[in-house]
Amino acid sequence: MSFYRAALRPLLFGLSADTAHSLAHSGLGWAPPWQALGALQGLEVSDPRLRTRYAGLDLPGPVGLAAGFDKNCDLLVSLSCLGFGFLTVGTIMPEPRYGNPFPRIVRYEDTGSLGDSMGVPSKGRAYAIENLRRFGARKVPVIGNIGGFSAEEIACVFFEVEPYVDALELSLMCPNVLGPGEVFNELPVLIELLPRLEARKKPVILRMPNDTTKELDRMAEVIERCIAAKVEGLKIGGGWKIPEPGLGTGSATVHGRMIRETALANVEAAARIARGRIPIKGNGGISTAADVLAMLRAGACCVDLYSAFIYEGWTVARDIHRELLETLGRSTLSSPSPHRSQPAG
Ligand SMILES: Cc1cc2nc3c(=O)[nH]c(=O)nc-3n(C[C@H](O)[C@H](O)[C@H](O)COP(=O)(O)O)c2cc1C
Repeated sequence: MSFYRAALRPLLFGLSADTAHSLAHSGLGWAPPWQALGALQGLEVSDPRLRTRYAGLDLPGPVGLAAGFDKNCDLLVSLSCLGFGFLTVGTIMPEPRYGNPFPRIVRYEDTGSLGDSMGVPSKGRAYAIENLRRFGARKVPVIGNIGGFSAEEIACVFFEVEPYVDALELSLMCPNVLGPGEVFNELPVLIELLPRLEARKKPVILRMPNDTTKELDRMAEVIERCIAAKVEGLKIGGGWKIPEPGLGTGSATVHGRMIRETALANVEAAARIARGRIPIKGNGGISTAADVLAMLRAGACCVDLYSAFIYEGWTVARDIHRELLETLGRSTLSSPSPHRSQPAG
């Protein structure tokens, strides 16, 4: 059992999830110990068998960190020592926002899951860009997840952040408060946004809204529009809202192992629609090499995770990559093998 699981996690899990989260942030805010630990524990991913390509990016490994942990790009130096194949930072919002009232995070320990109602708190694009600029040369690709409530806002953040990241991931957001049972329809924003991004120099990835994955026709339309606009990649996840009296808003979006099967089914559905015409990043409940392989078989090229970082600690990416290597034997992730999906159709 890792030091984190045996000693540190019980201490952190004895605190509220929000407090533990901010402590983890403070701990990762000073890079030198993480740089030393990265070298000492052999965290970095360097085996050529794990190399893969996604959305025009060469990834040293298929397991990345998902958006939301480092919302303001404060922890890039530390996180880049932990063996992730890529880092997704953000969501970077145009202007500073407080987010929803606390508490905002809850753990569902029996299922290795989390609920959140963060409400996209952000220190705004100017703050994040300054951090990205200072970070400079990087060991692993950095994907900037950006948000906004209109096509104009998102396009503006896109072109300001673009010089400082390797790719950008779009989080389309609902400008209004939805009534009970209503779902967010991102198509109007997407249709207005895609032509504005034609002049981009870096790859763009669309994060499929979770509501959209529940409506196959709409997901198909989003995917076709992305393909037509030469969007370089999709991120497909799972996750849904539940009532959660323990959080400030009274509801939570669930993440972690609880959503794994749904996320996998969503990736399969998206891959059937995409038929190999746009690469997919799978997300939702990944915590083992078997989860990664299931996502790859379902049609993903790579995955990212958040909850498993909280549950398994800083060695999670290295551990999964190592387990993957044991399964791969002498084959590589990029070579045709039973681990890779075949484009459907
Ligand atoms: C506390 C918390 C905050 C998150 N914040 C963001 C965010 O700011 N932007 C975003 O696109 N996703 C955010 N996410 C979603 C994660 O990127 C990821 O898609 C989700 O947690 C599912 O992956 P997992 O099952 O590995 O946790 C957040 C998730 C959690 C748990």
